[in-house]
Amino acid sequence: MPEPIPILGPFVDQFTVLLEEKIPVFSFHFGPAPIEAIREIHAIGSIVLATATTTNEAKTLVEAGVDVIIAQGFEAGGHRGTFAVSYEHGLIGTAALVPQIADAVSVPVVAAGGIMDARGIVAAFALGASGVQMGTAFLACPENNIPEVYRQAVLKCKDEDTVITEVFSGKPARAIRNRFIREMENNRDKVLPFPAQMSIGRFLYQTSAQQSSPDFASMWAGQGAALAEALPAGELIEKIIQEFLAVTASLQLK
Ligand SMILES: Cc1cc2nc3c(=O)[nH]c(=O)nc-3n(C[C@H](O)[C@H](O)[C@H](O)COP(=O)(O)O)c2cc1C
Repeated sequence: MPEPIPILGPFVDQFTVLLEEKIPVFSFHFGPAPIEAIREIHAIGSIVLATATTTNEAKTLVEAGVDVIIAQGFEAGGHRGTFAVSYEHGLIGTAALVPQIADAVSVPVVAAGGIMDARGIVAAFALGASGVQMGTAFLACPENNIPEVYRQAVLKCKDEDTVITEVFSGKPARAIRNRFIREMENNRDKVLPFPAQMSIGRFLYQTSAQQSSPDFASMWAGQGAALAEALPAGELIEKIIQEFLAVTASLQLK
């Protein structure tokens, strides 16, 4: 039986390197960074982003000194960034969340969750966002080093195939449904707190993927996965830019 081991080094060690390298943008998930860390980031002239899943979380982040809010809708792939309420209370869709956060804070808002192409970007701007964060859209890009079985699952994914589950890491995250999720649904009491569950389960998830089986692999993805395209990232961005121009032009005609 493997023992839980830290997945990453201590925060302070990683943070020190990032400060030394003068990384221009720091993005935090699962709540605000310590106030002192935010001060140090600002002192080197960099900016701080952080994820909110409710309007109250967005206000808390701004009060802590965060410069840009990432409004994460429930469609998003990967871990929920909810930190102030139970994750069920933070399950607000992108279209409802972005305008409410944009009205509530005076800093720029980045929309995240279900944005897969130019249509989503145009919609996010109309809702009050100043930018978008796209994760799932890049999962099928060849530069991405996810296991092939995961990439194929993304490409086969339909809108109803993802679910928010704690079973892979101990924290709620949206993933493609598979046998592990189904079987663990009846064994929720055995799920360890984050990050112990991820540390213990990693070997199983990796081995499943290495054996080309999706059954026990952790395959985080958002509700828009069906729209993912297996294009090189640069080409995908170029395509999105061209489509953005076409979508905005078509809207202006009406
Ligand atoms: C596979 C995967 C891994 C992610 N890992 C992180 C992460 O390490 N840190 C983070 O802040 N957000 C992470 N996210 C969440 C994204 O930042 C963002 O909220 C989400 O991808 C936006 O929704 P979308 O997946 O529908 O594009 C991840 C998302 C995916 C799909």
